Amino acid sequence: MATAPVPPERESPAVMEKLVSLAKRRGFFFQSSEIYGGLQGFWDFGPLGVTLRNNIKRAWWRTMVELRDDVVGIDAAIIMNPKTWVASGHVQNFTDPLVECKKCHQRFRADQVSGTRHQDDGGEFTEARQFHLMFRTFVGPVEDSSAQVYLRPETAQGIFVNFANILSSTRLRPPFGIAQIGKAFRNEITPGNSIFRLREFEQMEMEYFVPPAEEMKWLDHWKNERLQWYLDLGILPQKLRLRQHGKEELAHYAKGAFDVEYEFPFGWSELEGIAARGDYDLVAHQQASGRDLSYFDDVHRERYMPHVVEPSAGVDRTMLTAMIDAYHEEEVRGEQRVVLRLKPSIAPFQVAILPLSRKEPLIATAQRIEQELRPYFRTEYDDTQSIGKRYRRQDEIGTPFAVTIDFETANDQAATVRSRDEMTQVRVPLSRLREALQERLR
Ligand code: GAP
Repeated sequence: MATAPVPPERESPAVMEKLVSLAKRRGFFFQSSEIYGGLQGFWDFGPLGVTLRNNIKRAWWRTMVELRDDVVGIDAAIIMNPKTWVASGHVQNFTDPLVECKKCHQRFRADQVSGTRHQDDGGEFTEARQFHLMFRTFVGPVEDSSAQVYLRPETAQGIFVNFANILSSTRLRPPFGIAQIGKAFRNEITPGNSIFRLREFEQMEMEYFVPPAEEMKWLDHWKNERLQWYLDLGILPQKLRLRQHGKEELAHYAKGAFDVEYEFPFGWSELEGIAARGDYDLVAHQQASGRDLSYFDDVHRERYMPHVVEPSAGVDRTMLTAMIDAYHEEEVRGEQRVVLRLKPSIAPFQVAILPLSRKEPLIATAQRIEQELRPYFRTEYDDTQSIGKRYRRQDEIGTPFAVTIDFETANDQAATVRSRDEMTQVRVPLSRLREALQERLR
């Protein structure tokens, strides 16, 4: 079950560096524990990053759970009974092939290097050996093998082991789904490309349980639904594609699989996997636990083991995709501006309220307006620096609209609404501000 082979990730070109620098400068994401030199494969999310992530997770939950009557959510524990991972096959098979350079002792995924020698120093690679990707820890005060547990490498198994609980506590009958968002951990050999490949990451997974004969129909359904979700998030269609897995790529139990891929600056790479997993997981857990996980269809009077279609997405990769896709550099009146054209529904802030100067009565009016708008939009109040610099900052963090309070406001009871994308400025009466912004953000 080793993770699917990935193309070697090319050296990230300038845009990745610029994005990582923007992310740090503005507070989207930082290297974890940076003051101690960081830790490879771990990142922390700052004020803007956490908001963007929450907006992405909310969009997924809304589409996959709230807007459907056939999907429910759960939140399972990260640390599970280790028998789970024996039954699922992870203890046996969740490995990647690893080679080591005999000269510098750097380690690489065997499927990510070409040739038999390290390009940098000519050192010969060792024979490939299987490297286990699950993190281990101990439960309780005794650190022996009986207390050893794993940090889950995917959220999916938390769903399978709760299948019977959901069946008996809800009125759902196949086809139905169980969805979960949560952290997962993999001791990746080569984490990299900022938040693309991490050792601690977050997944958004749904297991859709169906009558066996309907499995391929639902695979077709979910691959289209999932591609559409990224389009609805505002990702450019020409940068997205569905790639069907070849036979050699499929797990032995899988009947078919697709990846949603995005054209990152380092090449086309997986954003999400959608797989028809048959009854592999439920059968495995039934055998290992001794609990009956079959379903009795009382309409057709038949008992069967449901089959599963699984769309499995990453929060971090979606976040990186949204930011890269939105990143634009433009020349405006001889000056360069960087703008994140994030879809307003996921942008960290939707409206910035900017008094033109720090003088009264501008400040008091701007603060009052911000308080009035705050319950309806994600707002930010900013009275530092020149107005030009503040516009540039809002462009860079993707705020779609800015409301500027100026010296005229006291006379005409109106403010200027500036659009991030068109850079148009229109005068709007204060009494209509909320309505006007709601119309524009629809
Ligand atoms: N339950 C199936 C499963 O976990 P996967 O293809 O290994 O399948 C699904 O992972 C998604 O989780 C990926 O498409 C990606 O978005 C995210 N993901 C997996 N490993 C990751 C990593 N090391 N760093 C960041 N995201 C990761």
